[in-house]
Amino acid sequence: MSRPTAGPRHLLSVADLGRDGIREILRLGDSFAEVNTRAIPKVPALRGRTVASLFFEDSTRTRLSFETAAKRLSADTVTFSAGGSSLSKGESLRDTSQTVAALGVDCVVVRHRSAGVASQLSRWLDCSVINAGDGRHEHPTQALLDCYTIRSRLGDVEGRRVAVVGDIAHSRVARSLVAALQALDAEVTLVAPATLLPPAVDSWKVAVSSRLDDVLPRADVVYLLRLQRERQDAALLPSLREFHERFGLSAERVARLADHAIVMHPGPMNRGVEIGAEVPEMHCATITEQVANGVAIRMAVLFRLLGSGAAAEAAASAPSGTRRTAQPADSVPADPAPGARRD
Ligand code: MLT
Repeated sequence: MSRPTAGPRHLLSVADLGRDGIREILRLGDSFAEVNTRAIPKVPALRGRTVASLFFEDSTRTRLSFETAAKRLSADTVTFSAGGSSLSKGESLRDTSQTVAALGVDCVVVRHRSAGVASQLSRWLDCSVINAGDGRHEHPTQALLDCYTIRSRLGDVEGRRVAVVGDIAHSRVARSLVAALQALDAEVTLVAPATLLPPAVDSWKVAVSSRLDDVLPRADVVYLLRLQRERQDAALLPSLREFHERFGLSAERVARLADHAIVMHPGPMNRGVEIGAEVPEMHCATITEQVANGVAIRMAVLFRLLGSGAAAEAAASAPSGTRRTAQPADSVPADPAPGARRD
């Protein structure tokens, strides 16, 4: 397998990658997905490197996924949780993150309830920064694993009709996903009540509908979003029951989808609200595949940022005395199996 081309030091938004960067991550994802099928799913690619997860907001899958990915690349991991930390003693975000970085980490994976925190950390810290979700702004690795999942189920992303349904206004997942889908030439329709559309939706350059039943028969992908009640500051819906009736993907609605169509959700799901209680177990649903693919894709992202080519470049450009000497990765994963798809 070819080594990753030297790229940017951070992954803050999908725009940092562009079409070629996204395609490169998807290709690397194929190699790491193969690693994950081995009896010992581990390669020494990031041996000697340290990845810190800095989560100021709750997470199950994203955090475990990054930590699993780092360990499978043989990196050391450091974990910070806001609960039980010196934040409760009044320590600032800057001091906390600089303290973690000073442990000698090569990469910080950060989640925070405020938009822009990942970008701020990239200015304060000397190591790589990956945005694992900042407020309602972006969640780029989620979009990458979702594109990977579409590609592995449907063959390609290009030209696919994707309906993104639910609370788009408060969703960082939607922002990153739409950007990635557009970069890969998919056709996106947002489906939501007017109160759950972002104010500047016109600038998104996508189709918009408030009628899920009209959109379903043509969709290749139905992507459901949770109501982000922790980020809603007003009563935006008459009731959850009414939301489910108009926008929830029930089993009856699944029956109206094309045979090849897939149903996606980033999790956590609220069964009976945006998704019918029995839908996640149906064949069309990709929810657990998305989680599994997330590990391979996050391995690809970490490898691209910290693998040998990227590391050498970052070390050369860092101010002297501020960065640990980059250790070239000892090895990269074996070539993907013959026949593995290349974009
Ligand atoms: C997120 O962190 O944004 C999740 O993956 C999606 C959600 O919370 O609904």
